Amino acid sequence: MKTKKVGISGGSGGLGLAITRKFLADNYEVVWIGNNEAELIQGKEMLLKAFQGASIDYFVADLTNANDFERLHAWLAEHHQDITVFINNAGFTTFGYVNEISEKWEENMIALNILATYKLTRVFLQWMMERNDGTIINISSNSSFQPSPRITTYAATKAFVTSFSRGLQEELKMQGSNVLVMTVCPAAIQDTAFKKKAKMDKVKTFNGIAFTTAKEVADDLWNGFLKKRDFVVSGWKMRILYRIKWLVPYRIQLWMVKNETKETI
Ligand SMILES: NC(=O)c1ccc[n+]([C@@H]2O[C@H](COP(=O)([O-])OP(=O)(O)OC[C@H]3O[C@@H](n4cnc5c(N)ncnc54)[C@H](OP(=O)(O)O)[C@@H]3O)[C@@H](O)[C@H]2O)c1
Repeated sequence: MKTKKVGISGGSGGLGLAITRKFLADNYEVVWIGNNEAELIQGKEMLLKAFQGASIDYFVADLTNANDFERLHAWLAEHHQDITVFINNAGFTTFGYVNEISEKWEENMIALNILATYKLTRVFLQWMMERNDGTIINISSNSSFQPSPRITTYAATKAFVTSFSRGLQEELKMQGSNVLVMTVCPAAIQDTAFKKKAKMDKVKTFNGIAFTTAKEVADDLWNGFLKKRDFVVSGWKMRILYRIKWLVPYRIQLWMVKNETKETI
C-alpha cells in the first residue's frame, strides 16, 4: 500500500493541530516540527487518545536557527524522506507601525515566514521530484493579496509565500511533474494563539468582515487537497470578497484593510 505520511511545521498548535486531525482521520502517519517541546508532547498525548494506534513523530527545532535547521534536515533525510505531503504552517505576525516594532522581532518573522518556508520547500521539492510524487502545502494568508498597514511586514512575507508557491506550481506543470504545490490563504482565524502572541486580541479583523476558524481552514485545506487544487482561499466570507476584489478600487481596498486592523476597545 502507498505510504501516507504528512509532515507539518507548527503542527502541535492552532491551525496545525486542526490540520493534523484531518490527516489522522484518513490514517496518515504524522511528523511534526515545532520549537515548543511541551506543546509537542501534550498535543501528541491528546491526539493519541482520540486516534488510537496513530503514529506521531516529532522533531524539536527553532526553524529560524541555522544549526537547528541543519539537524532537522539530517533527521528528515534519515527517517522521513518518504513524507508524501509536507505543510509549511509555522508562522507568526508582528503588529503596529514598522518604525515602532522591534527590528529583531520582524527579522525573526522574516526568517520563519519566508526563509524557513523557502528552505523546507526546497528540501521536499527535491525528494518529491525524485519520486515524481507528493504535495507541498504552503500556508499563506489573505493579507498576501494587498498591502496591509499595521501588519505591513507580515503581509509582505505572505505575499512572498503566495507568489513563490504559485510560481513554483506553474514551473512544475511546465516540467510535466506530478508534484503539486498548493497555496492556502486563510482569512483572520479567531481561535488560535496567533493574535494573542502579536498582542492583537482587540483587533477588529478577528471579529470582522471575514474571520474564520481553524476548523474551517482545515476543512477547506482538506477538500482542496482531495481535489488537487493548487490555490485555496479559506473562509467562505473571504472567498466572496476575493471574487469581487478585482472590481474594488485600490484606495477602497486599503481603506477596508485599515478599518480591519483597528483596535476595537
Ligand atoms: N491566525 C490567523 O489569523 C492566520 C490568518 C492567516 C494565516 N495564518 C497563518 O497560519 C499559520 C498558522 O498560524 P496559527 O494561527 O495556527 O498560529 P499559532 O497558533 O501561533 O501556531 C503557530 C505554530 O508555529 C510554531 N512556531 C512559531 N515559531 C516557530 C519557530 N521559530 N520554529 C518552529 N515552530 C514555530 C508555534 O510554536 P510556538 O507555540 O512555540 O509559538 C505554533 O505551534 C501561520 O503561517 C500563520 O501566518 C494565520
